Formats: sequence, structure tokens, C-alpha cells
Amino acid sequence: MPRVALVTGGTRGIGAAICIALKAAGYTVAANYGGNDETAQKFKAETGINVYKWDVSSFEACAAGVKQVEADLGPIDVLVNNAGITRDSQLHRMKPEQWSAVINTNLGSLFNMCRQVIEGMRERKFGRIVNISSINGQKGQFGQVNYSAAKAGEIGFTKALAQEGARVGVTVNAICPGYIATDMVKAMSQEVLQKSVLPQIPIGRLGEPEEVARCVVFLASDDAGLITGSTLTANGGQYFA
Ligand code: CAA
Ligand code: NAP
Repeated sequence: MPRVALVTGGTRGIGAAICIALKAAGYTVAANYGGNDETAQKFKAETGINVYKWDVSSFEACAAGVKQVEADLGPIDVLVNNAGITRDSQLHRMKPEQWSAVINTNLGSLFNMCRQVIEGMRERKFGRIVNISSINGQKGQFGQVNYSAAKAGEIGFTKALAQEGARVGVTVNAICPGYIATDMVKAMSQEVLQKSVLPQIPIGRLGEPEEVARCVVFLASDDAGLITGSTLTANGGQYFA
């Protein structure tokens, strides 16, 4: 039986590339998304991958969503926590909603999602959890107090859950991509991108979503059974953690 993989935020950007790569590697894949129905339906038509809409910042929505995926496809063997947002602003102008939206979506979602699948993974003595953190959780970023805090929190979550899962075959790892060519980076100030970010990337270019996806496929594989609690840095040399 093929293993079942669930990718949050799986219909666009890095998540879409992860879904496509996992499917090519032989997994049965489910892609969650938050609200962009048109893109999700287009992704489903193009890839044949089932799509599921729910808000990863809601524990109840995650419980219902995971239940539906498992009813359709079977128990989840691989969970990729990829869904994420930015609400950039310097702290002295940041509104409480910008703080809580980013913390709840990017970090709260790890509890909301992992809690749904961890008992089954422990019982079956196999599981792979991959959390998509960020270079900006490792180094901090001007204008991203909320995002950097959430992404750093994802790394702590990863290291703690890895200790709990190690004896029962559940590995938990984080990937910290640098700046990747997706809608998220298109949405930031292109002046800041050109003047402040790109000159700091030694390989001289943004990363591609597929480059992150290949890291996920490896961490999800049997070959990666020795690797747990780790942070895989994929940023073109911009920062050495
Ligand atoms: N370090 C120090 N000073 C900085 C700085 C930095 N990194 N960036 C900007 N400044 C300075 C500016 O030079 C400017 O100085 P002057 O007033 O002397 O000209 C001052 O701070 C104000 O800068 P802005 O005009 O940019 O400030 P703003 O309040 O209008 O905008 C902002 C704030 C929206 C956060 C903007 O700075 C910005 O977009 N920054 C980039 C944030 C970023 O990298 N986001 C990543 C999004 S993609 C992502 O998050 C994916 C991922 O994981 C990598
Ligand atoms: P993206 O292109 O903006 O896509 C985000 C995906 O997340 C979409 O599928 C979106 O669904 C989904 N999503 C957002 N909020 C959600 C919610 N509340 N519930 C469920 N799904 C939700 O982003 P990306 O650039 O691919 O980033 C993916 C992940 O990588 C994020 O965690 C991001 O922080 C991280 N990352 C990105 C970069 C980068 O440079 N791009 C670098 C490092 C880390 P809809 O389509 O329905 O909106």
C-alpha cells in the first residue's frame, strides 16, 4: 500500500511542489488549502491530487479535516506542515491582529495538525513530520518580529516532538528555506528584495519550490530514518545556522 502524505498549504508555491514531488515518489497525497478555491481546483485538475479546504489555525477545523482525509485515503503516514502567511510590519506599527494571525497560522498550526496524527503514528510505529520553517526564524528579519518568532518556534517544536517520537519510529524535522520564488516573495516590496535581499544570497538567485520539495521527499523516506530533530538549511548560502 502506498503511504499517505498530507501537505498543508499544498495547492500553491512550495506546498504544491511538495505535493507533486511526493506523488512522483509514490505517495498518495492530500493537499490542504485555506481559501483560494480557484487555484485549488486548478491544481486538482492538473495533478489529480485531492484538495481539502480548512483553516490550519483552528484546532477543530484541523480535527475535522484530518478525519475527512483519513476516511478518503487512509491513515496519514507523512505530515508536512507547510501552510504559512506573512503580515510584515515594523513592531512599532504592528497591530495585534498581525501578530496573532501569523503566530496562529504558522506556529499554532503545528500543534493543531500534529495533535491529530501523532497518536496514530505512534500506534503504527511509523511517522514522518516535516515542518517548513524559514531562514528568518534562524536569523531574525527586519519587519518580521511576528514571522521570525513563529518560525523560530517551529524549530523548538520540532526538536521537542522529535524526542517524543524517536522510540516509536516517528521522525520530526524542520526545513529552513531561504527566499523562494513564490507568491509570498512576490508580495513583498520588490525594492527591498532587489536592494537588500538578493545581494545577500551568494548563489545569486532565489530558490525554486522544487528545491525545497526534494528536501521533503528525502526526509519523508525510509533512507532518512536516522535523521530526527534536525534543521535542514536550504538558502543558497545566505545564512549558516
Ligand atoms: N536592517 C536595518 N535597517 C533596515 C532594514 C534592515 N534589514 N530594512 C530596512 N531598513 C531601514 C530602511 O533603510 C529605512 O531607513 P531610512 O528611514 O533611513 O531610509 C528604514 O529602515 C525604514 O524601512 P522601510 O521604508 O522599508 O520601512 P517600512 O516601515 O516602510 O516597511 C517593511 C517595513 C514592510 C517590513 C519593509 O521593510 C519590508 O518589506 N522588509 C522586508 C521584510 C522581508 O524580508 N519579508 C520577507 C517576506 S518573504 C518571507 O517571509 C519568506 C521567507 O521565509 C524568507
Ligand atoms: P504561498 O505561495 O503564499 O502559499 C501559501 C499556502 O498556504 C497556500 O496554499 C495557502 O492556501 C495556504 N494557507 C495560508 N493560510 C492558510 C490557512 N490558515 N489554512 C490553510 N492553508 C493556508 O507560500 P509559500 O511561499 O509557498 O510558503 C509556504 C511555506 O514556506 C510557508 O510556511 C512559508 O512561511 C514558508 N517559507 C517560504 C519561503 C519563501 O521564500 N517563499 C521561505 C521560507 C519559508 P490558499 O491558496 O487557499 O491561500
